[in-house]
Amino acid sequence: MTTSHTLVAEGLTVGYGDRTVVHDLSLVVPPGSVTAIVGPNACGKSTLLRAMARLLAPRGGHVLLDGAAVHRTPAKALARTLGLLPQSSIAPEGITVADLVGRGRHPHQGLFSRWTREDDLAVAEALEATDTVQLAERPVDELSGGQRQRVWIAMALAQRTDVLLLDEPTTFLDVSHGVEVLDLLTDLNRARGTTVVMVLHDLNMAARYADHLVAMVDGAVHASGAPADVLTEACVRTVFGLDCRVVEDPVSGRPLMVPIGRHHAGRAAAGAEPDGADGADGAVGAGSAPDGAPVPAAGDVALVGRGR
Ligand SMILES: Nc1ncnc2c1ncn2[C@@H]1O[C@H](COP(=O)(O)OP(=O)(O)OP(=O)(O)O)[C@@H](O)[C@H]1O
Ligand SMILES: [Mg+2]
Repeated sequence: MTTSHTLVAEGLTVGYGDRTVVHDLSLVVPPGSVTAIVGPNACGKSTLLRAMARLLAPRGGHVLLDGAAVHRTPAKALARTLGLLPQSSIAPEGITVADLVGRGRHPHQGLFSRWTREDDLAVAEALEATDTVQLAERPVDELSGGQRQRVWIAMALAQRTDVLLLDEPTTFLDVSHGVEVLDLLTDLNRARGTTVVMVLHDLNMAARYADHLVAMVDGAVHASGAPADVLTEACVRTVFGLDCRVVEDPVSGRPLMVPIGRHHAGRAAAGAEPDGADGADGAVGAGSAPDGAPVPAAGDVALVGRGR
């Protein structure tokens, strides 16, 4: 089974109060593929995702799902095709995991909603897929951060939409559960043709799992395309202000970004030239003294951050 929903942002401008955060942004999400959006804290990734999911109204331009403006589509109708896992959500007090995941079925229920066998199946499958079956009867507010994140993912999966937007789905997850979630999203994409758009801070996981990589900076798209074309040393320097090496991931063959940082600049300078596609960038970063000794660099930012 494949789906072919088109999701496009055209000249999208979004902001809060008197601040514009996303500026005249255009983006075509390749249908039936996995797109990852990366970019520094506060560059507008969540704002873009929320606008694409109709939660923020555009100040300019529009978001089109299958040619129709999402902001003119009724919320429930949109939610049958497009789901959003927000960056952070607060569960109603005391709600159990099973009940919260069941809320993912709401868009599929009519005015006099009757719970169907299909709803049961969707919830059971979502709990199974996210390794949360054993948590089903527990109150969500008693769970650990990682358990809770998996429950929210289960709710998004239970919605069974053809287009799934996820804002940092692997935040809070240990490495094994993080990889499992990305494998799971890939399974959904390959088996059902689900179009997946996810914001990730882990550039290497983004490059490994995405068919299409989008690098954002200052509310605009800096680069987009195949991960090998986007995740380059020059791009990481421009977008994150970080010097790095890009080598080939021995497992996936995709680009693997190794940050340098102030404390390892000398060693990186003394090492072999990078053999990645972006070798022309050189190995010594702007944060290094001529002799390779590390000096503080204002642009040396952490790659993983929650911005909360
Ligand atoms: N509800 C809001 N009201 C006012 N300003 C907001 C609101 N939400 C976000 N912003 C501002 O918009 C800018 C972009 O925020 P956004 O959450 O889109 O960033 P992000 O790229 O998702 O960052 P992060 O990686 O930290 O999640 C930030 O400067 C932020 O302070
Ligand atoms: Mg965000």
